[in-house]
Amino acid sequence: ASAPMVDPFGRSIRYLRVSVTDRCDFRCVYCMAEDMQFLPKRDLLSLEELDRLCTVFIEKGVKKLRLTGGEPLVRRNIMSLVRSLSRHIEAGRLEELTLTTNGSQLARYAGELADAGVKRINVSLDTLDPERFRALTRRGDLAVVLAGIDAAQKAGIAIKINAVALKGVNEDEIDDLIRFSHGRGMDLTLIETMPLGEIDGDRTEQYLPLSLVRRRLEETWTLAASGHRTGGPARYFTVAETGGRIGFITPLTHNFCESCNRVRVTCTGTLFMCLGQEDARDLRAPLRASEGNELLAAAIDEAIARKPKGHDFIIDRDHQRPALGRHMSVTGG
Ligand code: GTP
Ligand code: 5AD
Ligand code: SF4
Repeated sequence: ASAPMVDPFGRSIRYLRVSVTDRCDFRCVYCMAEDMQFLPKRDLLSLEELDRLCTVFIEKGVKKLRLTGGEPLVRRNIMSLVRSLSRHIEAGRLEELTLTTNGSQLARYAGELADAGVKRINVSLDTLDPERFRALTRRGDLAVVLAGIDAAQKAGIAIKINAVALKGVNEDEIDDLIRFSHGRGMDLTLIETMPLGEIDGDRTEQYLPLSLVRRRLEETWTLAASGHRTGGPARYFTVAETGGRIGFITPLTHNFCESCNRVRVTCTGTLFMCLGQEDARDLRAPLRASEGNELLAAAIDEAIARKPKGHDFIIDRDHQRPALGRHMSVTGG
């Protein structure tokens, strides 16, 4: 039943990212505008429908499932979905059930997540300075996120810290982020900002190529390429001084589309075959059209058959317009 879905470029699709809500309690400056229009709640798939959708993907060979958002933990009753999906882990059909979170609700959910079989999560944390954190997230409280990280670690969940590297914002803090993460036994991944969705500022001013960051880091730290793989796009290095790992996600300076193994579904049931392309396939209609899954499975096959070769993100120096109008929070990254 779990022969992998294979796209026209021979890539097996084993990783599904599901944005369970486009809403978020933060408004990170590189992600959202201050004034955001979210999708009408009536368009959302129910948690039961999301479960059915994920289950069909797992039957079609998905081995790694990541819940994202917006902020996945602000979706009402989200734990009922997590608990239900964990049956696929217990049955050995799914290798990893995980999520990417801003950490704001983690203190409350850490224990339940661990109980549901979540072994590893990614927490977004771009700065360790409380005032900067407030400015960057516009709403967030650093102390709350740090307490969430503590709670998750106490519950036995492994954490990877995600930091978007931003010129003039946190570029002077990368060393501190390494010390903080590695000091607590967490991997750190740096991310290049991608041109998705209207934000209030000019992205060209925030963009920091990670090729430059890596060169700078090598003045202080000894980096050695690591074969570590998570199934995501990061390329990892070990840091000799800390024994920890640092990953680089470089859609702009080093395109990794050749090894893409993933697709994403939005909270309204739209399948995006690539984060950086418009083309999408509605799955809500086939999901709702019948109780059986044949129509849904056929729609998924049809979409995978047109998965594009890759994105063509550039940071446009002449315009502030995003390359794509859709925000990262719609597809969950
Ligand atoms: P791991 O399982 O820990 O490897 O996580 P991950 O990197 O797959 O997921 P995460 O949600 O932590 O995403 C980190 C960053 O990678 C986000 O900014 C995502 O938008 C970005 N990312 C993930 N997949 C893709 C992709 O296919 N293309 C691009 N351009 N970016 C991606
Ligand atoms: N470019 C790169 N990363 C982004 N994220 C949100 N918006 C962007 C963007 N425009 C990050 C978040 C989170 C992950 C899912 O994506 O910080 O860590
Ligand atoms: Fe929310 Fe994540 Fe976007 Fe920040 S980056 S506003 S935490 S979805």
